[in-house]
Amino acid sequence: MAYDVDTELERSTNRIMVVGAALLIGMALVFPLYRWIEPSDREASREAQLDSLAEAGQDLWGFNCASCHGLNGEGGLGPALNSEQFLQAATDEQAELLISVGVPGSQMGAYSQDFGGPLTGEQIEAIVVYIRSWEETAPDRPDWRDVAAN
Ligand code: HEC
Repeated sequence: MAYDVDTELERSTNRIMVVGAALLIGMALVFPLYRWIEPSDREASREAQLDSLAEAGQDLWGFNCASCHGLNGEGGLGPALNSEQFLQAATDEQAELLISVGVPGSQMGAYSQDFGGPLTGEQIEAIVVYIRSWEETAPDRPDWRDVAAN
């Protein structure tokens, strides 16, 4: 009887050790796999975030900017922001700052709520992401600022 109990105990102890070893091996296999998959996950979610920002930016552009800069940034009363040269010259930070504070003494107003404008920082970021989306097909226009004078 006592002998039976001991073998039973030994068997269950062995079973626990086998399960524990299996778990360890499983974890050892899963972690590298996770690290291998995870960065592309992060990249995909960053891309999705940029897509939704660009979409919001497109609407905001249509309401706030298109009347002077053209529906597709081709320019009008204001410079042509779809110009390859403008897009290369301006960093995102510079564009956000300029849109936030405006150009004093010109028709280009301040758009940040911090400067009495209608837009939040996130909305201005969204507009810049949208403007950036023109970059791939941007026309060659070194005279982007002269459009306004025409
Ligand atoms: C009432 C007309 C008007 C509206 C509306 C307007 N802009 Fe402008 N914008 C201008 C003019 C004019 C300039 C040129 C200012 C200057 O340098 O004299 C300008 C300049 C700019 C520049 C700098 C371009 C460069 O050559 O460096 C950016 C960027 C810009 N606007 C973005 C925007 C965005 C984004 C919006 C909407 C949130 C907007 N603008 C709305 C008239 C406008």
